[in-house]
Amino acid sequence: ADGLKLGLAGIGTVGSGLLRLIEARRNTLASRAGRPVEVVAVSARNKRKKRDVDLSRVRFVQTRVKLATDPEIDVFVELIGGEAGVAKEAVEAALRAGKHVVTANKALLAHHGASLPALAEKHGAALNFEAAVAGGIPVVKVIREGLQGNDISRVYGILNGTCNYILTLMEQEGRGFADVLKEAQAQGYAEADPTFDIGGFDTAHKLALLTSLAFGTRTSFDAVYVEGIETITPADIEAADDLGYRIKLLGVALRTDSGIEQRVHPTMVPKDTAIAEVDGVSNCVAIDGDFVGDVMLIGPGAGGGPTASAVMSDIIDIARGHVLPAFGIKAKDLKPYKKAQMR
Ligand code: HSE
Repeated sequence: ADGLKLGLAGIGTVGSGLLRLIEARRNTLASRAGRPVEVVAVSARNKRKKRDVDLSRVRFVQTRVKLATDPEIDVFVELIGGEAGVAKEAVEAALRAGKHVVTANKALLAHHGASLPALAEKHGAALNFEAAVAGGIPVVKVIREGLQGNDISRVYGILNGTCNYILTLMEQEGRGFADVLKEAQAQGYAEADPTFDIGGFDTAHKLALLTSLAFGTRTSFDAVYVEGIETITPADIEAADDLGYRIKLLGVALRTDSGIEQRVHPTMVPKDTAIAEVDGVSNCVAIDGDFVGDVMLIGPGAGGGPTASAVMSDIIDIARGHVLPAFGIKAKDLKPYKKAQMR
């Protein structure tokens, strides 16, 4: 069969992770995917930057938008990030050109989760985003494919590795906030602007996507109540500990009598629960379905390896011709969040 040709935009933590994964699977990728898969072109802000991946056989394309519509590529892999600007422009250009898109960009999809899937559908392209939610945990597939038979009443979890890492180290080692954040940044877990992590916005982006998948609603980031972990002190963590609780930043979406409620905030969870045991950069996602009951997934939520693993699963789906219908585009928007709605 013809090979599947990828154009890769962004060679940071996740992009290099993907290149390493493809290299590691050199002998088995074609059989797993049903056809050869290769990166033929890349674009990156700095062409000469030293990287620990071999780029000698790929073509550098001047701009990200040019790469997105490059005649040679079948799939545009967007690992640029950012809710607007070049990532949006490039993804739109790719979809218009009928290229499949694989993205890890939760901010982009949370803000444009109605228009981009509609564009994908119009042009018969896939828009896959397994890596956008909970890093390496394949929760998008679990909801879209594994739990299709269920009516879901609630989806919630720990969706930001950086915050969970910070809270864990503050608790276990009694360390200060800023010090642990620096470490998370050095390991490539944090967003380019870490305010997105600690302010709860990254969790909110992911929650908006989970809500759309779980409830079939249109993505509504504006309808999410957001509170971060900036004000949590070691004294709060100690006080919670004395009472038998841990503090976790949770994203929660649930069906209520007055519609679907979406919220992100630090939460005290009893120490003897599975969610309290989710440590470090791990994430977890719990989904309550009417026929299946309660499902919980736990795994690595950030970092080059886990996120590349999710990106690769999307690429392999496309190589196999497994393209799902676009998500949540026909439903109505959720009501914007108002303080008075919170209980
Ligand atoms: N900054 C994100 C996190 C990366 O810490 O979870 C994964 O989306």
